[in-house]
Amino acid sequence: MRNKITIIGAGNVGATAAHWAASRGLGDILLLDVVEGVPQGKALDLLQSGPVDGFSGRVTGSNEFADSAGSDVVIITAGLARKPGMSRDDLLAKNVAIVKSCAEQAAKHSPDCVLIVVTNPIDAMVYTAFKISGFPKNRVIGMAGVLDSARYRTFLADALGVAPRDVNAMVMGIHGDNMMPLVRLANVSGVPVTDLLSAEELAAIVTRTQHGGVEIVNHLKTGSAFYTPGLAAIEMAEAILTDSKRVLPCAAYVEGEFGFSGCFLGVPVVLGSGGIEKILEFELTAEEKADLAESEAAVHKQMEATGL
Ligand code: 2OP
Repeated sequence: MRNKITIIGAGNVGATAAHWAASRGLGDILLLDVVEGVPQGKALDLLQSGPVDGFSGRVTGSNEFADSAGSDVVIITAGLARKPGMSRDDLLAKNVAIVKSCAEQAAKHSPDCVLIVVTNPIDAMVYTAFKISGFPKNRVIGMAGVLDSARYRTFLADALGVAPRDVNAMVMGIHGDNMMPLVRLANVSGVPVTDLLSAEELAAIVTRTQHGGVEIVNHLKTGSAFYTPGLAAIEMAEAILTDSKRVLPCAAYVEGEFGFSGCFLGVPVVLGSGGIEKILEFELTAEEKADLAESEAAVHKQMEATGL
């Protein structure tokens, strides 16, 4: 039997995630949205790319949560996106109500699924989904680290003139201004970037990564990024559906790891069929620990604002 992936929200991020999922042949895809016609139309359009792209999975659109029943992975992208001048936190109040209802319905119709939360502000929304779904912590995961790390790797590759895929670099912490692009461990096929770029060049790349989302919002003016956010969610879904034990930075519920507890924080995790199978904990320097503590403080503020 083919895997079933439900993507809630047929906007730019949801539709793009559906596109990547179909193209990678991950299974049958349901695009779900409250707006009548939009998920149906986008799903039909995507389905019709199958003969050319070569995938065989079904792609359908619906306005009914019941159609999502029995999903293996549910990806929540529904919610408002940022416009210029808006922070991710500005979206919190509006999106918390949306994510609450999505998590409730996902838990009802797909009680065994893994939930991937993409809606911003991600760290608060994944906490909302965790609280409302009642799922164990390993089955509720926030997408952010894969996206932020992809931006970081892109900027490093650009500065070094090397293939982006050969850059190994990770962003930890919150999906916000306090995110922590790790410089000490970033490398190109094993060669430390600190031996290849100056401290000033690296500092500029770190700052650009931390503001990678707003850079795109300022270009687009009417919304935020969607190609890489959509792909990042599918990279996570694929690791889960294929039980591949990929190690990806994700927002995971921490209980003592890295010295923090009771919140979602971007950390490296092993992803397999059970969702998060392990958090890979490692020694941080005092400076990194302090940076991560700033992330954690910001996440806690967001969590309090959800009222949960
Ligand atoms: C971003 O960073 C959408 O928050 C997302 O582009």
